[in-house]
Amino acid sequence: MGRKGILAEPGVERAAGTFPAVRLRRLRASEGLRSLIRETRLTPDRFVYPIFVHELEEDVGIESMPGQSRIAISSLPRLVRRVHGLGIPAVILFGVPLMKDDVGSGAYDPHGVVQRAVATIKDVEPDLVVIADTCLDEYTSHGHCGLVRDGDVDNDATLDLLARAAVSQAEAGVDLVAPSDMMDGRVAAIRRALDETGHSSVPIMSYAAKYASAFYGPFREAAASRPQFGDRRSYQMDPANGREAIREVAQDVAEGADAVLVKPATPYLDVVRDVRTNFEVPVGAYQVSGEYAMIRGAAMRGWLDERAAALESLTSIVRAGADFVLTYFALDASEWLTET
Ligand code: PBG
Repeated sequence: MGRKGILAEPGVERAAGTFPAVRLRRLRASEGLRSLIRETRLTPDRFVYPIFVHELEEDVGIESMPGQSRIAISSLPRLVRRVHGLGIPAVILFGVPLMKDDVGSGAYDPHGVVQRAVATIKDVEPDLVVIADTCLDEYTSHGHCGLVRDGDVDNDATLDLLARAAVSQAEAGVDLVAPSDMMDGRVAAIRRALDETGHSSVPIMSYAAKYASAFYGPFREAAASRPQFGDRRSYQMDPANGREAIREVAQDVAEGADAVLVKPATPYLDVVRDVRTNFEVPVGAYQVSGEYAMIRGAAMRGWLDERAAALESLTSIVRAGADFVLTYFALDASEWLTET
């Protein structure tokens, strides 16, 4: 029997879900109805707020990320009290050291800027989850995420340094380490090093599917981590590849990653969804500096309604399957969501 035949019978129209029996607009008629049937709910407890910590006495605004600053250690207590007060469960720290060298020593210095920041935060807000970005690029004079040999990043030689950075972050008291370097084998190397040094309970959240993206531009201004030569395409993923993300995540999960990240977020929502459907591990997405700058920059010119655009963008990331979102909008969005 053809479709036409079924629909011709009285009552079957309803089951087949066609107009006019079905009118999808009915449930959109009021905010109450819309809120009742809303599939994706944005709440502050899904956010992770990224903080750039530097070694100067004063906070310094980041030009390409209006509203965000490099934060002085002495300003951290006030900031993290605000974060915690808004119901945001976690922050992720990026260090902006005064001194950089070609082996990124600042990343594994027990008195490094992130290590000191962790102690300060844990002093005032012990329940706030503190995540450390585990990477060398903020600490290397050449700006690459690993040791450079013969003009390229040496994968295996970098692993030891990443492991040292993770151990030193764990020693400083972080709740989670987050390797963002994209070296092969880093999760296994970090897991082994953490376990051997008595930190078997510190989880690893790997930036498993991290793309070589133009949207990191403002971050590199913030962290002064623009590569001094070449680019990151020999280690970060090609934006054209989706299936490869599954291999990256599978690899990291097999090596012991407790949670994985997709980064950037909005240009890669298909990847967020694919990772969500293929793995049972918690999946986060990073709405990166360029995604933030686009919305904020347009809003500052009056071209976009910032609040609506930011919340829509965050909703789309959660709808695609992210359990949590790293976002520079965390504070504003939490305020918007709790205002009535
Ligand atoms: C590397 C790192 C980067 C970002 C987070 N971790 C920069 C890069 O890979 O160049 C970018 C985040 C953002 O753009 O907001 N440590």
